[in-house]
Amino acid sequence: MLKANIAVLVSGGGTNLQALIDAEKSGIIQSGSIKLVVANNSKAYALERAKNAGINTAVVLKSQLGSQEAFEKELIRVLEEADTDLIVLAGFMSILSADFTNHFRDRIINVHPSLIPSFCGKGFYGLKVHEAALEYGVKVSGATVHFVNEIPDGGKIIMQKAVEILDGDTPEVLQKRIMEEAEWKILPLSCEKICSFIIKEKN
Ligand code: GAR
Repeated sequence: MLKANIAVLVSGGGTNLQALIDAEKSGIIQSGSIKLVVANNSKAYALERAKNAGINTAVVLKSQLGSQEAFEKELIRVLEEADTDLIVLAGFMSILSADFTNHFRDRIINVHPSLIPSFCGKGFYGLKVHEAALEYGVKVSGATVHFVNEIPDGGKIIMQKAVEILDGDTPEVLQKRIMEEAEWKILPLSCEKICSFIIKEKN
């Protein structure tokens, strides 16, 4: 069966990458195959997860390349070399320019750990999102998977899942619950949805 080539962009621990790897193994993702993992940080544990699963890896460092433009040019080169159909941002902590997002229009998705449009946009990433949700006092948060365009966290929403906030939650506890109950479920499901659309288009 024809499958869409998936590339996953990561910066850190890579638990969402692991959820994607597991979902491909279990058949939740069947219209796509993870061909490449790209990190913008050579110490990202996500790279180990990829290697353990036998997936090709690449490290692209802005600090070595000197500018955002050169960084994105190199990203585009490695992604195109792998014949990438879908780019998944899974804990990728770098904002991409309009040049990059236009290059892969409707072919980049991202998982964000809140219910967009709450607690999102520039400056809201990782634990900061959960700190802001707890500080505001919302009783429900969750996760969102969306297309990536030139507006940070501003692209069309693909899936969302709500998660209850409980008394005594710390940012770390809330982050873990949102990952387990929402992110690790809706990211693979969204990936399958978009990959199946891509292969229908290709045929
Ligand atoms: C995840 O919670 C992801 O939603 C978030 O960072 C974490 C990465 O964890 N992403 C953002 O905040 C992007 N704006 P992981 O490396 O274990 O998947």
